[in-house]
Amino acid sequence: MSAHTIISGSTGSGKSVLINNFLYYLIRDVEDWKYELWIIDPKRVDYMDYRPFCKEYAKTIPDGENLLKKAVKRMFDRYDRMEREGWKEWPGSHIYILADEFGQILRSSAAVASLDELLRLGRAARVHVIAANQNAARTNGCPSHLRVNFTCQIGLHCVDKIASRQAIGCAGCESLPLFGYCYVFTPQDLKPELWKITMIEETEIKRMLKERARK
Ligand SMILES: Nc1ncnc2c1ncn2[C@@H]1O[C@H](COP(=O)(O)OP(=O)(O)OP(=O)(O)O)[C@@H](O)[C@H]1O
Ligand SMILES: [Mg+2]
Repeated sequence: MSAHTIISGSTGSGKSVLINNFLYYLIRDVEDWKYELWIIDPKRVDYMDYRPFCKEYAKTIPDGENLLKKAVKRMFDRYDRMEREGWKEWPGSHIYILADEFGQILRSSAAVASLDELLRLGRAARVHVIAANQNAARTNGCPSHLRVNFTCQIGLHCVDKIASRQAIGCAGCESLPLFGYCYVFTPQDLKPELWKITMIEETEIKRMLKERARK
């Protein structure tokens, strides 16, 4: 995953299940040194099993603000080094910043300012934001100046066509089943691609994490 990603869908449509899938395969299949995991988890329970694998973890808005500020600093430290070394892209680890319940963190103007920097400048420094929110752009949603820099848009079931357009730029998500499917749209695509989402059982996630922790 090299773009910034926004995941939108109505409540219960499977946004957290999708992020859990991403985390499962990342931790299971990718070598530790290739990535850092930074998680903002306002609900506190969705990602608690992953805490030992996180470089940074935040559950309150002030902690989330601090996490994002630290990410901006890390990003500019990387650019300093890239400038000195003549690198166009950071050659080391990817930093994945996962922000579920994105609307919560968007209530903080300090967080929005940090996100703006990360979304505009993060890609070449390998700092990626993955955000999930019930509503793509309405009240409690994502301001359009942030939204344009999420180059990968994922829409799960949406309440209506308007919400679907805000999620992926066109209608379609309103016709998806309540969970289990999503549309994925990236700038390379001419039209959104339909994906099936298989939920990974919690026992399997716990088993895999236990095994990875032993290594
Ligand atoms: N792909 C799937 N396969 C089977 N069940 C699913 C799937 N996706 C979601 N569910 C069911 O729906 C429930 C809600 O999913 P999830 O918590 O991911 O929704 P959400 O979009 O994050 O909701 P919220 O906005 O309230 O946080 C899951 O606990 C599970 O029971
Ligand atoms: Mg959720």
